[in-house]
Amino acid sequence: MANSLCSVCIIILHICLTVLAGRDFYKILGVPKSATKNQIKKAYRKLAMQYHPDKNPDNEEAEEKFKDLGAAYEVLSDDAKRKQYDRHGEEGVKEQGHGDPFSSFFGDFAHFGFGGQQRNPETPRGDDITMDLPVSLEELYTGNFVEAVRYKPVAHTAPGTRKCNCRQEMRTHQLGPGRFQMTQHEVCDECARVKLVNEEKLLEIEIEPGMRDGQDYPFLAEGEPHIDGEPGDLRFRIIAEKHNRFERRGDDLYTNITISLVDALAGFTMEIPHLDGHKVKISREKVTWPGAKMHKQGEGMPNYDNNHVKGMLVITFDVDFPKGDFTTEEKQNIKNLLKKGAKPKVYNGLQGY
Ligand SMILES: *[C@@H]1O[C@H](CO)[C@@H](O)[C@H](O)[C@H]1NC(C)=O
Repeated sequence: MANSLCSVCIIILHICLTVLAGRDFYKILGVPKSATKNQIKKAYRKLAMQYHPDKNPDNEEAEEKFKDLGAAYEVLSDDAKRKQYDRHGEEGVKEQGHGDPFSSFFGDFAHFGFGGQQRNPETPRGDDITMDLPVSLEELYTGNFVEAVRYKPVAHTAPGTRKCNCRQEMRTHQLGPGRFQMTQHEVCDECARVKLVNEEKLLEIEIEPGMRDGQDYPFLAEGEPHIDGEPGDLRFRIIAEKHNRFERRGDDLYTNITISLVDALAGFTMEIPHLDGHKVKISREKVTWPGAKMHKQGEGMPNYDNNHVKGMLVITFDVDFPKGDFTTEEKQNIKNLLKKGAKPKVYNGLQGY
């Protein structure tokens, strides 16, 4: 009896300790303790989209997960809080207020196709703005988060009132028996006065792996404000920068490599650094002629819709012929060496010569 009571004690003690230690935010986000901020953001974004309540209505488990994710992200994305957490666990960061990291991170979720408010076509709208966003091929390969600061005029209420929502209305006056007149009047409401004040706003743009040149990245309602209506949208247009080693066509990458004549004849093994720094091993046993192509499946760009699928890398070789001259003896050696494969001379492109 006493024994079983004690094991209950231990279980209770264990539960207490677990609660005290708090949640493992790294585990919740599925990132290592050494994760960079970028990794944390990426992990959060992916999981938050998966467990977002809009996508999981009436699902308590998803709701709990989503809350955990929010708490984990709030702490781990903040350098000071993360330090506290690493030292003292969740208790160490408990006192601070809980904001809504989700809204600040994503701004408007409608970007991700989660509904968003219905727009009334009657409501006046501010202009849409499109901004070019130059992005390197490395960023398009690995993905990245880019911050942009937007100075945005925001409406603040000011003392006094102003006319607003003006519209034309008809009024009818009786002029006499059987005679009346209709006249048009402008009718306005009284609204609080507003003035536009420039405010700084940090926008976070996620460069997703495989995004294409010219692709749009919208921030709903971050465009030009409208005093009587809704703001327009702000759009970033992805502009892929030229790369000095790789050329992109669709999901395939192209590159040129120049090898020495010796390597061209005797074969070679080499490594070239890819866009994220990993090494691509290239080796050939056979003779490589100028213009020869090699295809490496899976070493191209990640596909935007499915990052696990990658295009191919097409390598075109050029051969660097030695300049200068050989001695008579060397020439004889080369002749002896290459004679076996020598074909009679032909003149390219001069048929019937
Ligand atoms: C490879 O060489 C060809 C021919 O000179 C050139 O058109 C192409 O732009 C080069 N590609 C890269 C990635 O440098």
